[in-house]
Amino acid sequence: MFARFANTTAFPQPAAQDGAARGRATGAHLAVMGLSHAYKKIDGLVLDSLDFEVQPGEVLALLGRSGCGKSTLLHMLSGLSLPSAGEVVINGNTVRGPSQAWVMMFQAPSLYPWMSVAQNAALGLRFARRSSEIATRVPEVLELVDLSPYADRNVQDLSGGQQQRVALARSLATAPEMLLLDEPFSALDAFTRRSLQRDVRAIARRLGLTMVLVTHDVSEAVRMADRVLVLDANPGRIAEDTAIALTEEQREGGCERFNAEHIRLMEIYTEVAHGDPSDQTDD
Ligand SMILES: Nc1ncnc2c1ncn2[C@@H]1O[C@H](COP(=O)(O)OP(=O)(O)OP(=O)(O)O)[C@@H](O)[C@H]1O
Ligand SMILES: [Mg+2]
Repeated sequence: MFARFANTTAFPQPAAQDGAARGRATGAHLAVMGLSHAYKKIDGLVLDSLDFEVQPGEVLALLGRSGCGKSTLLHMLSGLSLPSAGEVVINGNTVRGPSQAWVMMFQAPSLYPWMSVAQNAALGLRFARRSSEIATRVPEVLELVDLSPYADRNVQDLSGGQQQRVALARSLATAPEMLLLDEPFSALDAFTRRSLQRDVRAIARRLGLTMVLVTHDVSEAVRMADRVLVLDANPGRIAEDTAIALTEEQREGGCERFNAEHIRLMEIYTEVAHGDPSDQTDD
């Protein structure tokens, strides 16, 4: 757990795009409106008429089976690709391409193996031509992800979980308003995954970031999300939009409330999966 949040008040907060103070949350507001998508090479829609909003500072999980279109949707939220129909609107502006204000994290941390932890954490700033901020920001983000003692280590000498923390530090260095996570913990062992789930949620809340997390792990959704969209497949649609009403302590698990939420979400997920026509055999 990151015990040093009290020392991170100097962490630079992104300015609100409208220039006005927006209270504690500095996260982006996200609206997805009538979004549908078809890939040229395959017949039919992958995503069909999605409509939802995410409030500043909210943590949303997209839960759905393999192939239902979660990564496709996340790429569209980030501006890495554009939908066939409808739009993604962030802070009132239609997304037409990637921006420094929102960053993606993937299952593989994609670090440069010949560079140190600090050099890797500085890459986002370097690519954004904000090198003058490296000296102050990199130590702050390494502190935030609990890697200060490793700053000069080569990333190849780090564990998988530590490497994912370097990727997180690199993402946070540019002070984004939104984090988009595509199953970033699925390659890690259960213990490491649990601690990253807890810490990433804590950091997002501490900084007021909006976060969208793709997962097919029900317990990850219960631990991390304020709200879960359960997607069905062929084509991808929102089957259920449900809040996870747990305190931070209850999210640690091992209590009745956590177990009840886990069972409830698992039941929804199972029902949605059984409704998937690709799951049923033809007569
Ligand atoms: N570039 C592409 N061209 C054509 N089809 C694609 C492309 N990318 C994805 N698809 C197809 O679109 C559908 C949704 O893929 P997507 O990767 O978004 O699913 P996912 O929910 O993220 O799955 P997983 O949980 O396995 O990562 C799949 O049927 C996939 O084969
Ligand atoms: Mg995917």
